[in-house]
Amino acid sequence: MKQSPIHETVREHYAQRIIQSAACCNSDGCCDTNAALYPEQLLNAIPAEISNTSYGCGDPITLASLKPGQTVLDLGSGAGLDCILAAQKVGETGRVIGVDMTAEMIERARANASKVKLANIEFKHGYLENLPVEDNFADVIISNCVINLSPDKAQVFSEAFRVLKSGGKLAVSDIVTEGPLPAAVKESLSAWAGCVAGAVEAREYLAMLEAVGFKDISIQPIFFDPSIIDSALVEMNLTLEGVSPEMLYKAVYSAKITAYK
Ligand SMILES: C[S@@+](CC[C@H](N)C(=O)[O-])C[C@H]1O[C@@H](n2cnc3c(N)ncnc32)[C@H](O)[C@@H]1O
Repeated sequence: MKQSPIHETVREHYAQRIIQSAACCNSDGCCDTNAALYPEQLLNAIPAEISNTSYGCGDPITLASLKPGQTVLDLGSGAGLDCILAAQKVGETGRVIGVDMTAEMIERARANASKVKLANIEFKHGYLENLPVEDNFADVIISNCVINLSPDKAQVFSEAFRVLKSGGKLAVSDIVTEGPLPAAVKESLSAWAGCVAGAVEAREYLAMLEAVGFKDISIQPIFFDPSIIDSALVEMNLTLEGVSPEMLYKAVYSAKITAYK
């Protein structure tokens, strides 16, 4: 697969984040965290150092309504939290595969899965644009704040459609926009790695899903929380001329997205 400079920027960004969180993670939850996105009871049985290491923007597990015995594929599995939650839902007769391009994330995800002693999870190193699984493999595909990071989203959706079984469900939390982003944001590679610059308009997202064959597509905003944009701006060290945080508050939001094959 031909990689773009965006892959390398994003990969390096998330490798650094997981390395830095390892340096400060403790049982009190000093970690990168978006764990507040999930209902409390979902995280109860998970050790804090795992539930607090999340880079997501929503809760694809609740959205997916997983059932025992299902095969689940997580696109951009990060440190493995959603895979662990999915593995608990599908049980011993089910199976969960996480795919991520960042070796440091895969390593942490494997360590986390062994801490909770779940044997029905596997993590594969790979790209969303060239998924390392066969056709018609998954009953459900989940993903949490990853597709916005891809430089070729149409190819990601085409791959998702290929590997999903007929009748299968896509359940995704992702960042989308209302209207176009300012050019200065679009052009910033660090804004891309922070899940802002790569986000596309919700209607464009929907059109790409439709184009590869997905049906019954729904894109619902889940919240409009300026603190997410604030932390993204701080993290990106973003001082873009002529772009105020208010402009981004209006344009960027997290959405829950479902679609069927
Ligand atoms: C914002 S983090 C989200 C991680 C995880 N889903 C979570 O909720 O914590 C994005 C993750 O997607 C991975 N990623 C980004 N673009 C990717 C691509 N094109 N192919 C595979 N993995 C990708 C990164 O390595 C990173 O681990």
